[in-house]
Amino acid sequence: MNILIAHQPIAEATADIIIVPAQKNLDFTQIFSKEVSARIVASMKKAVFTGEWGRAELFIAPQGVNAPLIAVLGIGKEADDEDKYFEGLRRALAIVLMDARVHMVSRIAILAPSVSDVSPIVESLMLTNYWFTEHSKAMAQDAHMRSLKEAVIHVSGEKEAALAKKEVKKTHSILRGVELTRHLVNQPASHMSPNVLVQEAKKIAKTSKNISITVLNRKQAQVQKWFGFLAVARGSKEEPYVIHLKYRPKKKPKKTLVLIGKGITFDSGGLSLKPSIHMENMKIDMAGGATVLGLFSLLPILAPDIAIHGIIAACENMPSGDAYRPGDVVDTMSGKKIEVLNTDAEGRVTLADALTYAQTLKPDAIIDLATLTGACVVALGETYAGLFGNSQSLNTLIKESAKKTGEGVVEFPLPEEYRSTVQSMIGDVRNTSAMKTGGAITAALFLQEFIEKNKVGEAVPWAHMDIAGPVYAEMPLIPYWQFGATGYGVRTLVNVVEEFGK
Ligand code: BES
Ligand code: MN
Ligand code: ZN
Repeated sequence: MNILIAHQPIAEATADIIIVPAQKNLDFTQIFSKEVSARIVASMKKAVFTGEWGRAELFIAPQGVNAPLIAVLGIGKEADDEDKYFEGLRRALAIVLMDARVHMVSRIAILAPSVSDVSPIVESLMLTNYWFTEHSKAMAQDAHMRSLKEAVIHVSGEKEAALAKKEVKKTHSILRGVELTRHLVNQPASHMSPNVLVQEAKKIAKTSKNISITVLNRKQAQVQKWFGFLAVARGSKEEPYVIHLKYRPKKKPKKTLVLIGKGITFDSGGLSLKPSIHMENMKIDMAGGATVLGLFSLLPILAPDIAIHGIIAACENMPSGDAYRPGDVVDTMSGKKIEVLNTDAEGRVTLADALTYAQTLKPDAIIDLATLTGACVVALGETYAGLFGNSQSLNTLIKESAKKTGEGVVEFPLPEEYRSTVQSMIGDVRNTSAMKTGGAITAALFLQEFIEKNKVGEAVPWAHMDIAGPVYAEMPLIPYWQFGATGYGVRTLVNVVEEFGK
């Protein structure tokens, strides 16, 4: 898809659809002739549409417009909240673009009232224009037929056009990172082994001399004491790998951030086997890792002045004669012993070692992203991630970064009174809580057991994002989320990385 900037009046544009945001007082005379404006208003009236947030309508264009179709985007009352306005723009545009597919529209023209609207427009364009077609000829054909070929974004003048072009370039690059993550998550486990993740990580490292990579295989991970991770990996024939990506800025880094992504390339549950309906989608269990890779693919362009580590302990969780068992006591890098009550609570067992390793890097903050619990999805549904952590300022940074992107995040507590429910009588911690409820929280409390405190009780700022819900869309709850991987988290991490250095 070609995304172009123009500064001619949009009324003069030639396209298959001309798209304009709803205007104040439903007066379109700033954009079109009196007659055309009146016809648009009449069509809107017919549709009982006043430009409210979360809606958009497509009309047959009145005479005098150089396009067969015209669309009005509902964005609500602009003033109240800028982030909400941008998200309205993304969603309303996506509604039109999905409609446009039906009509095999190949060229659109859209009005960006201000340069700050350009990024959300590009985001919506690229999020909707993504297709995962690798394994289906029919899908590939559909994508070829129905994908948008050209979008022209109209801004008000020459100076604005120059700024807008920069915005397009940057946002386009960022969305390429989102697409990488979506591709990795969509890829079935038959095509997405730990080794494939390693190859993807190596490809990224090759793109920049500021990024380096180290990879540990099973033997090497054993020497480095990744005992929890290796216990989970034991049931699978796939060789497990620990991936460690390092980004170093040109100047001496002001701060160091560690990003950990859960990397279970398939989660069968292990000997605590999942029922089929719960196993169907478990290729997505490396989405945290894929999000970290998506972000790393962008670091050469973002060029933040902080050091960033990306850690993915990648393996499959499978049952076999050699698999770890319910009841087993498993060593970890930290020295703490985990009593495994349920082999399906495997993510936290692998993350325990990743968190311990992350702390040896002496970072200023650690953020882990993990498709950790079904309980989080039960609590929040499928568009919000759960956020947990020991640092209010880090949590706030993540929440604000997410808000800018329209990615939903809800902060959960880590109540002291639930801690005892993950304490074990046989080992140190148990991998499922003795309490049957609050599973997303008790999983986070388990992770927190691996965040060490120094003599005066201080710990590294750590945040955990349970992204089990929003990384994969089963239904288009959000207009720019089609079926499959959403790339959730990459755009939030971009903002986090940019803000963290400040
Ligand atoms: N990978 C799953 C969590 C998950 C569920 C991700 C749904 C995406 C969608 C995780 O490893 C898991 O199986 N968690 C268990 C924990 C339980 C055994 C304590 C769960 O949520 O059922
Ligand atoms: Mn599991
Ligand atoms: Zn899992």
